[in-house]
This record gives sequence, C-alpha cells and structure tokens, in this order.
Amino acid sequence: MPRKKIAKEEEKRVETKLKTKKTKASNLYEDDIEELMILQPVKGMRDILPGEQPYWQKVRKVLEESANNYGFARIDTPTVEFENLFERSIGEESDLIKKETYSFKTKGKEKVILRPEITTSIMRAYIQHGMSVLPKPVKLFSVGKVYRYDQVEEGRYREFRQGNFEIIGENDPVLDAQIIQMTYIILKNLGIKNIQFQVNSVGNPEAQKSYIKVLKNYFNSKKGRLGCSYKDVIEKNPLKIFDSKDEKCIEICSQAPKIIDHLDKESRDHFKSLLEYLDELELPYVINPTLVRGLDYYNRTVFEIYSTDEEGKRHALGGGGRYDYLAENLDGEFTPAIGLGLGMDRLVLEMKRLKAKEYQMPRPRVFLAQLGDLAKKKSLKIFAEIEKAGILVAESFGRGALKSQLIQATKLGVDVTLIIGQKEAIDGTIILKDMLTGTQETIIKEKIVIELKKHLKNSMKVTKSKK
Ligand code: HAM
Repeated sequence: MPRKKIAKEEEKRVETKLKTKKTKASNLYEDDIEELMILQPVKGMRDILPGEQPYWQKVRKVLEESANNYGFARIDTPTVEFENLFERSIGEESDLIKKETYSFKTKGKEKVILRPEITTSIMRAYIQHGMSVLPKPVKLFSVGKVYRYDQVEEGRYREFRQGNFEIIGENDPVLDAQIIQMTYIILKNLGIKNIQFQVNSVGNPEAQKSYIKVLKNYFNSKKGRLGCSYKDVIEKNPLKIFDSKDEKCIEICSQAPKIIDHLDKESRDHFKSLLEYLDELELPYVINPTLVRGLDYYNRTVFEIYSTDEEGKRHALGGGGRYDYLAENLDGEFTPAIGLGLGMDRLVLEMKRLKAKEYQMPRPRVFLAQLGDLAKKKSLKIFAEIEKAGILVAESFGRGALKSQLIQATKLGVDVTLIIGQKEAIDGTIILKDMLTGTQETIIKEKIVIELKKHLKNSMKVTKSKK
C-alpha cells in the first residue's frame, strides 16, 4: 500500500477510536494512551522524513559553513536545563515563560525545562566554563531543538530547530552590522528572496524603565477605547499591546510614544553607527519603532528578518539583538553580546516554497584582515563587494591582532589574504598577500575585485600544475 495511504488509514483508525471515547488526542491520559497506542507524534511535533532531508542538509551546511567563515566555534548545550535559568533571562512575566514552556519535575525532584531558546544556555555555558578569559569577542554557534507550547499552525511548531550565532564580549556596533550582514548572506545562499530586516533600538535598562512609565501613562489615557481586557496588560507589560492584531488597538499603538525618542545617549550613538554600517552595506532594512521582541534580556539593537511571498504574506525567519546585561543577570560579570536565532524549520519551508536548489558550499579563497577602526569600517563594504563578485571570502571582524587574523586565514587554507590597516584605509589601498608564495602587493581599493579574480585564476593554474 502507498505510504500516504497507510498514514491516512492510521489517522482514521485513531480518529474513530477517539470518537468512541469522546475525547481529543491532546486530552488523553496515560491510561488512554496505553490502551490506544497512538501512532502519531504529540501535537506540534513532527517527523522529518527522508524526502525532506536534502533541504535540512542544505540548511545545516550553509549555517555551518557561515559559522566557519565568520569564525564561530560550535557549542552544544543540553536540551533540558534548570527552569529558573530561563525565568531569570527571559523574564518571569514574559508570555514565553508564563504560557509556553514545557517544564516538569524529574524523579529526583529537580525543576527542569525543555529549553525554549538557546541563547540563555550558551551564556550559562560561557560563564560556567570561564570563557571570559578567551580572546574577545568569543563567537559561538549552535544548532538544536527548541520547545515552546505555542499555537500550532504552518511554520509554528512546539518542537522546532534553531541555528544560533552569538558574539560575546564586545559592544562595537560593527558586530551588530556584521551579524545582520551574515544573516543576509546565509539567506541568499539558501536561495531565499524578498528579504527585509526590521531594526530598532530598545536602549539600556534605565531608558527602558522610563519608557515603560511613559507608555503606561499613554495607554492608561486610552483605556476607554482599549477596553478593560487591557487593564492588566497595561500594568504588567504594556509593550505586549504592540503585538495586538485588533484594528482599534493598532491605531492607538501607531500614535504611542516611541522608544527611539527615549533612548540614552550611548544607545542613540550605537544605533546611529549601526544604521550607517547598514547603509554602507546597502542592506534591505527598515526601522520599526515598535519592534521590542518578546524576550526580556535585550538592550540596544533588536532586529527581525522577514521574507515576503507572492501573496504579500510575511514570514519571520529569524531575530536577534544585543543582550549586554544577560551575563550579569545570571550572576556572571558584565559581558556585552549580540546574537541571532534563525528558525530552521521556517528556512526549509521557505526554500520549499521557492523550490531552491541544493547548495554546494566551496571553501573560502580569500581572507579579509583589518586593523583599526577606520579599516574595519571600510572592510565591511569591501567584504560585501567581494562576496557580490561571487568570490567566497572569510574575515574575523572584531578580532584585534593581525597575527591571530593571519593564523585564522592559514587555518582556512585561503589562496589570498587582503590586509587593510590604518594607512591603507586612509590611502584607499589594500595589501594583497599570496598565501602560497608569501609575496605582497598594494592595490587600489576600486580595482580589488579585478585584481583578485586575476590572482585567483593564476593561483588555480599553479595549484593544478603542482598536482
Ligand atoms: P526568537 O525570535 O524567539 O529569538 O526565535 C528565533 C526564530 O525562531 C524566529 O524568528 C522563528 O523563525 C523561529 N521560531 C520561533 N518560534 C517558533 C515556532 N513555534 N515554530 C517554528 N519556528 C519558530 C530567539 O529565540 C533568540 N534566542 C534569538 C537570539 C539569539 N537573540 C540573541 N541571540
């Protein structure tokens, strides 16, 4: 019998049995299950069958290769953690903790939780394993399952997979820009189109507190129109009102004070710098002044990534932001950080929708090393230009010493390393170092792509003749 038919028959069998018991699968007790032996996963969880695996392979491969190119080291943390870890990080009052967790007591009476996200676990591991002594920033990458007792629909599951990229230990806005740029490259490499970033700044915790007060006053003044169901929300978490789909509420929100007008000076400067980088990189972004995200740990930069389908429906593929105070909240020392979480199930859905082809990721042939602030600023754009020309390029923005950057270039086995120091950034030049012969030449910035292509063609010939 064909597979689909067998599956349908099994579904029918379960349905008939349930009807006779006048109950729903989600309301079953242990005894019912034992008796019934339901051959289907728990609601919101699913099997990923062999037919779908090539898409997953591709997603994993692109994420892993990007992690490699951008200097992220892999970390795996347990799926089960102590419950209070997430209460501290995400916030006891957040919907995620109050309504969407899978938490339970073990036989040993420990209160545990199936992780509802990965960033907190990574920060827990960072503190616990004394990673603060490592050269900053510490870049960590993780993929794994996440559990949320969410409303189930297409693209929204209770067990799903995330790819996480965390840059820990620095607060330079160039890293915020880089993580957004990297996301863009990942999505492009997966063949995903119509990408839009939404960005905002939520300031430091003090600014957030005073903004919440202003917002409470505003919503209280509109209580008559909002209705009494909002009374509690205004007091406990007025930011949640921004998520409402109710038309009247949306209109009231559109007139609400914006957090961006209540930022502290440092956060304002940080955000301005980020926007300058994003402009320089010509990334498709809009500022969404009501974007605050549902996790309590964010400060300053927050962002989300959407793609839009033919019917104009938007799909949230990922999100992230700064969480400079998370380490402190977990009893560690103050450690600025920024990160990204990509919903892998959603990436696969999007690829299937667009019928994206399987991607073969080659090794990077060029490494971009930079020294000094000005050089870093110039490097972001040059990086994007080289990528755009179809040359796979790696870098290590945020890593200070040239020596450690060159070690990374050697590890990656690139043919060419480009070096931009303070002098080159001012002169508008770039040093091109052939990694095979060790020779160096200085090239005008505007000619870098042409010269690189020539050089890589020659080095390909040399490698072939050596074989
Ligand atoms: P998040 O926005 O809660 O962020 O989740 C990231 C992505 O996971 C979402 O954009 C979406 O693609 C996917 N996702 C969320 N819920 C579901 C669901 N029920 N079913 C399928 N996919 C889902 C975080 O989790 C942060 N930890 C991200 C981060 C990393 N911030 C800093 N570093």
